[in-house]
Amino acid sequence: MSITEMNSKLIVEKTRDTKSAVPAFNIPYLPMMAPVISALKDTNSFGFITVARLEWKKFESKSLQAVCEEYNKHKLARHTRLHLDHIPVIDEDGLQVDYLKIIQDAIDLGYESVMIDGSRLPLEENIRCTRQVVEMSHALNIPVEAELGAVMGHEEGPLPSYEELFASGKGFTDPAEAKLFVKETEVDWLSVAIGNIHGAISTATKDKEKISARLNIERLRCIADQTRVPLVLHGGTGICKEDIMQAVKSGIAKINVATAIRQPYERALPDGITTAQTAVYEATCNVIENDLELEGISRNFI
Ligand code: 13P
Repeated sequence: MSITEMNSKLIVEKTRDTKSAVPAFNIPYLPMMAPVISALKDTNSFGFITVARLEWKKFESKSLQAVCEEYNKHKLARHTRLHLDHIPVIDEDGLQVDYLKIIQDAIDLGYESVMIDGSRLPLEENIRCTRQVVEMSHALNIPVEAELGAVMGHEEGPLPSYEELFASGKGFTDPAEAKLFVKETEVDWLSVAIGNIHGAISTATKDKEKISARLNIERLRCIADQTRVPLVLHGGTGICKEDIMQAVKSGIAKINVATAIRQPYERALPDGITTAQTAVYEATCNVIENDLELEGISRNFI
């Protein structure tokens, strides 16, 4: 079957089986869409185009519909699919979100996979909300990603010291809980916390250089072994290269990247949108070719 006929679920599973990964690029500003898709095409690779709720609330992607319309102008069946990123049950400011409505709206618009993020809830509640979304989405043949463990960074205020966080493993995904979570929810892809953190988004910190995170590969292998579903790595910007390469061999099949392409856009914007778009194109090629080494992955599907 050619990649143009495959749905997102099959693409991610085939990618995992070849010990590779699909990058997912976030679009916080609509003019980033065209250069990201050009970069995927020119590197002969494949990736998700994705937007999270916070990107239309706190950045300038405007709405689910605006992102979808911009995507439809540029999409390439050999190189892209549209994915809905983080729809939290409780958002980064502690507010309750009408997650079922947003996810239903996205599916109606044509988003081809969705993420429910119940990671700020106790385990049982996270299972219950994720299960609701899985039932609704699977009825429409749409795969679902969920998160277990705390991938920090989106909240306001200072983060705990990274070294302390990594050493303590606080908030890391527990393999036994992950097994139960996947069994009870029947989720398709699981986002894990193994040392990865999101790039900061608060006004005070969003321009700052992201720290170089490391990953606990042993824990990742345990989770992969217990769950058997493709695993997702959020916070893909600035992770130690060796750890990324090991992670892809150990069950990570989707890697989310936002900060590495957003900051070059914001920095170049004072020189005009065309210059900012060129900066995004170059940054996206750099992530694909150098940071993740995923150039040419669309050839795996021929
Ligand atoms: P970074 O901003 O660290 O690349 O993380 C992106 C992400 O995980 C979006 O869901």
